[in-house]
Amino acid sequence: MLAIARTIYAEEWAGNASAYQAQGLYDLLAEHLAQASDVRTLLDIGCGRGHGLAALRRTFPEASHLIGVDENSDCLEAAACLLAVDVPRSNIRRGRDEVLPSGRYVSTYHGAVPIGAGDIALVQSDVIIQDLELERLFDAVGPLDAVTLWFSGVHKARSATEIVRHFEIKSDADHRTLVEDRALSIAGERLRAGGVLHIVARAGAIDIDHVVHAIRLDYSDWLKDKPFRVESIGSIPYDEPADGIVVRSSNSGVSAMPNYAISILIRRGG
Ligand SMILES: C[S@@+](CC[C@H](N)C(=O)[O-])C[C@H]1O[C@@H](n2cnc3c(N)ncnc32)[C@H](O)[C@@H]1O
Repeated sequence: MLAIARTIYAEEWAGNASAYQAQGLYDLLAEHLAQASDVRTLLDIGCGRGHGLAALRRTFPEASHLIGVDENSDCLEAAACLLAVDVPRSNIRRGRDEVLPSGRYVSTYHGAVPIGAGDIALVQSDVIIQDLELERLFDAVGPLDAVTLWFSGVHKARSATEIVRHFEIKSDADHRTLVEDRALSIAGERLRAGGVLHIVARAGAIDIDHVVHAIRLDYSDWLKDKPFRVESIGSIPYDEPADGIVVRSSNSGVSAMPNYAISILIRRGG
């Protein structure tokens, strides 16, 4: 069931990603990041079909290590194709799904992940699940200039997993919060001082200034007592495609109101 749900998600996300790409959204997001930092080493969490990495590679041609991690191997295969990189199958088919007597799925990730000679590495892993071999890859790359998390979302069978029960995830919004918490903790462990965590979310808004103000307060509150601060928030208008994944989140009006990609740059202190 998980494998089928991943395949469906990867196919449906293709509609969103190619529409965003055609509107220049990924390039604008990469340019926003470039305003905050030069990037040679970067981790893209939930890299999907690779459209974000492609824009990042165009914007930072000197980058030596762009690492894309996603739990969906179908997305990673599409990313390898889009980015024209030769990725070992053992990197993007690392997951093993088992069914517990409860009927819930447990996924684990196995196999060493070589850095490889090229500038892009694609790795199947779930950032919420401990993965020591992925940690070793991060150790080998060293401090990162940026960690990106652009457009959260996950396949529908996630609700049948043990990890969702464990973290008491009840909605897409809960899942997004958990992945953002994990991204912040990875940024705390892996970003160099002065490096940037870049989170992009979708919002439907009539009064975008009001929404950006509220998001700034929310994220500043989230970062309180942590060595991070919100540096800049951009809002980029765009159109959702008619045939893509419908956004179901706390911003449930995303498809009904003018849509914005909210681009949040968070700086790690020294
Ligand atoms: C909405 S898509 C965005 C893809 C890409 N960032 C983009 O902008 O085109 C979200 C991606 O995050 C992945 N994802 C969700 N939760 C994840 C997790 N815990 N660990 C790794 N990948 C995850 C999904 O499989 C999906 O490919």
